[in-house]
Amino acid sequence: MSSKFSKIGFILAVAGSAVGLGNAWKFPTLVGQSGGSAFILLYIILTLGVGFVIFLAELSIGKISEKDPVNAYKKLAPKYKKAWSFVGFTMIGSILIVSFYALVIGWVVKYAYLSVIGQLPNSLELSKIEFENLTAHDFLSQFVCFTLVFFVIFYIVSKGIKNGIERLNVWMMPSLFILLILMLIYAMSKDGFVLALKFLFIPDFHKINISNTLEALGLAFFSLSLGVGTIITYSASLPDRTNFITSTLNIIFINLLAGLLMGLVVFTFIFEFGYDPNQQGPGFVFVSLATLFEKLGLVGHIFGAAFFISLVFAGITSAVSMIEPSAFYLINTFKMSRKKALVLIGIFVYILGILCILSSLDTTQFKILGMSFFELLDSFSSKIIMPLGGILIAIFVGFVIKRETLEILFKPYMRGIFFKIWYIFVRFISPLAVFVVLITKLIGFYIKF
Ligand code: PHE
Repeated sequence: MSSKFSKIGFILAVAGSAVGLGNAWKFPTLVGQSGGSAFILLYIILTLGVGFVIFLAELSIGKISEKDPVNAYKKLAPKYKKAWSFVGFTMIGSILIVSFYALVIGWVVKYAYLSVIGQLPNSLELSKIEFENLTAHDFLSQFVCFTLVFFVIFYIVSKGIKNGIERLNVWMMPSLFILLILMLIYAMSKDGFVLALKFLFIPDFHKINISNTLEALGLAFFSLSLGVGTIITYSASLPDRTNFITSTLNIIFINLLAGLLMGLVVFTFIFEFGYDPNQQGPGFVFVSLATLFEKLGLVGHIFGAAFFISLVFAGITSAVSMIEPSAFYLINTFKMSRKKALVLIGIFVYILGILCILSSLDTTQFKILGMSFFELLDSFSSKIIMPLGGILIAIFVGFVIKRETLEILFKPYMRGIFFKIWYIFVRFISPLAVFVVLITKLIGFYIKF
């Protein structure tokens, strides 16, 4: 990534990175498991109070340095350059993420295929069993779908992401939203819709606790692609004179909207088909929507195929943005060819991905700290690396980069009181909030043992 994005290209690429399976798969799953509305409230507060603030901080590092994550810290830190450059290695988090993320895209590919051949399950009960069969017993399907997705992702990154991604996003993002809105309109005609509205939007404060808060924080980071080098890398190609404040607000709005629309649709049909949302495991989106599409007959199959295919693309534009930081780093630092860098990263991702599949199979029962390898990578990246990355980004921007440098960058788009408020948040409030959540959870963890 050396040349610049076009202005709209930047928003599309970052929105493409943000909107993905975090909104479609993680969001409904966590909302169901963590108490519905209380979780959503936390998620929205943390997205605005922490996500937005740290997003701008990460963007500043990328834009001012115009480097990959490791070299960005090295370039901008006036002293302790080496120590700071280690913070850039939080980008390894995005490599860990892409290993299980590509597998989840693989599941979506399988569901797209089932829609095309008209073999989706026709009751929620069956749908649940089928999803469990796929993830716990079916090595072959997962292996084939994961491998396919893996090669597509690496092929796109090998072509240099700018052109490919810009063109892909121009079409895919609007189609996904149009499909979601049509589904929402249909959902509104169902009794389950009111139940879903209540479940998602009438806050139940009893359900707020430290675990939920950490989950919501992790999701806010995950769904905005924060703390693992992606935003630094994309902002390194941010064209000059782009109003990055409105761009960021747009991206955050699109991202929140995608999650909320998805949640409304998924939970309408969970209620409509008579299920208790608290009892479902992961895979709400597959279980609920697959059943819906099957019940709608041929129209449902066509719609389902279109929906799952756009979800595959939404996932791919996110996955690509996880690989680019490390590729950019290897190319810059070791003067490697893009191809060689990608082969190296690819080997690592492929092995981790296969381990993820194996560790979730019933037959292997391979667990670390009571979690499958998949769950471990997921938890470790979104509940530790990302928040930690966020704290360090905030400290770096708040205390290491000079205030004047930031003022020059922000001046055309945000000044006066707004800049001051952001600056206070980035120095104190946001990192402290993340720190308190992490520490409280950690202490709770030790007390439990
Ligand atoms: N934001 C993406 C999603 O919600 C996931 C992601 C995480 C992308 C980290 C890049 C880096 O699906």
